[in-house]
Amino acid sequence: MPEPARRTLVHGGTLVTSAGVAAADVRFVDGAVAAIGALDPEPGDALVDASGCFVLPGGVDFHTHIDAVFRGSIRTADDWRTGSAAAAAGGTTTVIDFCSPGPDQPLAEALAGWRARVEEQGPLVDYGAHVILVQPGEERLAELAELPGLGVSSVKLYLAYPGRVMSDDRALFRTLQRAAELGLLVLVHAENGHAIDVLVEEALESGEVEPEWHGHTRPPLTEAEAVSRATALARLAEAELYVVHLSSERALAELRRARADGGRVHGETCSHYLVLDESLLIGAPREEAAKFVCSPPARTRDDQAELWAALGDGGLDVLASDHCPFVLHGEKIVDGDFTHIMNGLPGVEQRLLIGYSGVERGVYPIERLVEIASAEPARLAGIYPRKGDLRVGSDADAVILDPAVRTRFSAETHHSAVDYLPYEGMEVPGRIRDVFVRGRAVVADGRLLDGPGDGRFLARATRSGDPSALPASDEGDTP
Ligand code: URP
Ligand code: ZN
Ligand code: ZN
Repeated sequence: MPEPARRTLVHGGTLVTSAGVAAADVRFVDGAVAAIGALDPEPGDALVDASGCFVLPGGVDFHTHIDAVFRGSIRTADDWRTGSAAAAAGGTTTVIDFCSPGPDQPLAEALAGWRARVEEQGPLVDYGAHVILVQPGEERLAELAELPGLGVSSVKLYLAYPGRVMSDDRALFRTLQRAAELGLLVLVHAENGHAIDVLVEEALESGEVEPEWHGHTRPPLTEAEAVSRATALARLAEAELYVVHLSSERALAELRRARADGGRVHGETCSHYLVLDESLLIGAPREEAAKFVCSPPARTRDDQAELWAALGDGGLDVLASDHCPFVLHGEKIVDGDFTHIMNGLPGVEQRLLIGYSGVERGVYPIERLVEIASAEPARLAGIYPRKGDLRVGSDADAVILDPAVRTRFSAETHHSAVDYLPYEGMEVPGRIRDVFVRGRAVVADGRLLDGPGDGRFLARATRSGDPSALPASDEGDTP
């Protein structure tokens, strides 16, 4: 006997998709969206009442560091189980994370290892990978031709952290040239690593060791310069560029300039830059200030306002989390001078609701939230419209968001393994009520459901590829 179809009818809600906002029911059958409209229950439908709520496509987080190693041996707090639980609880059903090959490791081998490790841990959400390149030479660049066949359509370079992971301008430009040939998207962490190093040396020589100096030594101009350089080189190489975690008005102005000049340049900001500012570090006790150390650093309230506005007016394309938590009483390292503090914050669980607070404040309409938090990252990832939207045939990844209830963020209730939250005590409008991954409920009435994770690797189309050629979600995605 064939198994009966898995059917769910989400009814009575306000559906928000790339097609607009409408009162509409949605039926999931066997993991995909089967119908949208005014739908009557049919035999076998499990009924979910979404009255008074928004029904949104599942969130797509384009920038997470789950189970990642920095500075050679320091691991982020979440493994794929806890990291994906945090994502799911926050309404994110797809994450694009990073595979970081060893210096002489073939890319295909690194990706196979990365995939095996993720699969072993049983993630609750679907996932894909960007590949990190460190100062790539010609041999490495030749290997990039293998990436599309391995389901990867983007690479990332750091323009910061010299001596660790930074790439120089030649490596950046050659990567952009190769990426343009292959239809790959190039992500850059845009800060001028050399200038920052000099500022750090000067600060330490002057005896400035407190965490706030992490921020003072990474001023907006170091970010703006790197954005300007990367966008110019991308233009020269005729490549498509994506600037991760933009934090300042100055850097944003460089991005806007490059776009106005016709550059194929995309910009991301992250939830923490929208709600955290530099005053949280300045003059604060070391252990408190360390909670907010990330790169680029938290900026001013004026910068925040510009970032919010850019998410609304299209100056920025994506709201990501850069989820990169380190245990405060452990790996975050609050002793010693500020250079020892690990850079990065948790946020995958809070991203969507922080984005929704912009809707509540009238910064942008809810359709725009769907664009920046789901649809556009899915397009850039090469997984749209399977992910990032709710259309007939899309994966049944959905979020029921209750706008009538407020959520208070706290490390006592979050799902990440990290032992603190930079958003501790913050209250935002809305509540993630239910979450579905390929039609299966992973969150019900605000509670994460226990169960085996069956998150799947997503083979991603290149920027020049045909997204409709993607394999169906129920087929194995092994390229
Ligand atoms: O501070 C940050 N952003 N840490 C995560 C790694 C990176 O730079 O993206
Ligand atoms: Zn970065
Ligand atoms: Zn990052």
